Amino acid sequence: MKKVLITGAAGFLGSHLCDRFIGEGYAVIGMDNFITGDKKNLAHLEQHLHFQFIEHDVTEFVSIEGDLDYILHFASPASPIDYLKIPIQTLKVGSLGTHNLLGLAKAKGARILIASTSEVYGDPLVHPQNEDYYGNVNTIGPRGVYDEAKRFQESITMAYHRFHGLETRIVRIFNTYGPRMRLNDGRVIPAFMGQALRGEDLTIFGEGSQTRSFCYVGDQVEGIYRLLLSDYTGPVNIGNPHEISIKDFAEEIIKLTGTAQKVIYKDLPVDDPMQRQPDITLAKRVLGWEPQIGRAEGMQITYNYFKGLTPDELYKSEHKDFKNHIKK
Ligand SMILES: NC(=O)c1ccc[n+]([C@@H]2O[C@H](COP(=O)([O-])OP(=O)(O)OC[C@H]3O[C@@H](n4cnc5c(N)ncnc54)[C@H](O)[C@@H]3O)[C@@H](O)[C@H]2O)c1
Repeated sequence: MKKVLITGAAGFLGSHLCDRFIGEGYAVIGMDNFITGDKKNLAHLEQHLHFQFIEHDVTEFVSIEGDLDYILHFASPASPIDYLKIPIQTLKVGSLGTHNLLGLAKAKGARILIASTSEVYGDPLVHPQNEDYYGNVNTIGPRGVYDEAKRFQESITMAYHRFHGLETRIVRIFNTYGPRMRLNDGRVIPAFMGQALRGEDLTIFGEGSQTRSFCYVGDQVEGIYRLLLSDYTGPVNIGNPHEISIKDFAEEIIKLTGTAQKVIYKDLPVDDPMQRQPDITLAKRVLGWEPQIGRAEGMQITYNYFKGLTPDELYKSEHKDFKNHIKK
């Protein structure tokens, strides 16, 4: 039985990856320190014979007993509201954390896949973004902590590949959504759905002309799975190229949820990208992958998930408390 270590396992993507690898017959070790994740996301796997969970901060030395075939490094705060509150942890998990996991992969002779992001393109000057574009990142802006951590992560991963011959994979993930996103993580889909469910107006930052594209989590996991098992070493964009303006998207959510609320406008945050759209030509060519789930279907599944939250979860409006995780 092949064994895989998944960091960030208690998070949104990590928990779906645990499900996928368990489903494919792997022994899965999940690792997380719960800084942005939630035990609830893994509760259904707790008793599974082939699932093991280790609570650990990957910025500290990582050791695993026995053999390991694959590592998927997904630990990192991922939403702007998170990484703006815990900027140093974000830089550390992308740098020190990645270094620790590359070291573990080298020691075990394991293949490692690193979760990178469309944020490496910053506020892009080319559209759509393909993997050859170097990006337009403000290194010292507030979002720089995430973007630069991920850019460093890609560089050190390629250095381990070139210098140590490590088998590495890099996925550049574009906005992904689905069940188990945190309602109050500041990303637009849970934000709009939470507001609709609580009977609040939907908030748009800026004029709403900025565009986004959203990939359903099942499609994202399929792309990551294929990339891990492929022999392609360069970075690969995985995302849904179907673009929509935030204003039009708010209208879609109003229709989907049947809310009687309206849209209100607030100031645009610093360095919020105006456009984001993946060029997935490479993923199509080397992985035979493209998204299968349209926005209407994916949003319906996601809305059903949020509708199932308890009133306590729905009205717990305060953002996650990071007090216990921040070392003085
Ligand atoms: N969701 C997206 O649309 C998206 C887009 C681009 C990239 N990504 C990347 O995918 C990965 C997962 O994102 P997500 O949306 O699931 O976020 P998430 O916040 O739901 O999950 C991240 C998980 O990592 C854990 N974590 C953070 N720092 C850690 C540390 N030092 N040690 C151990 N665990 C730690 C958190 O507790 C959490 O469970 C991240 O690396 C993120 O950068 C996600």
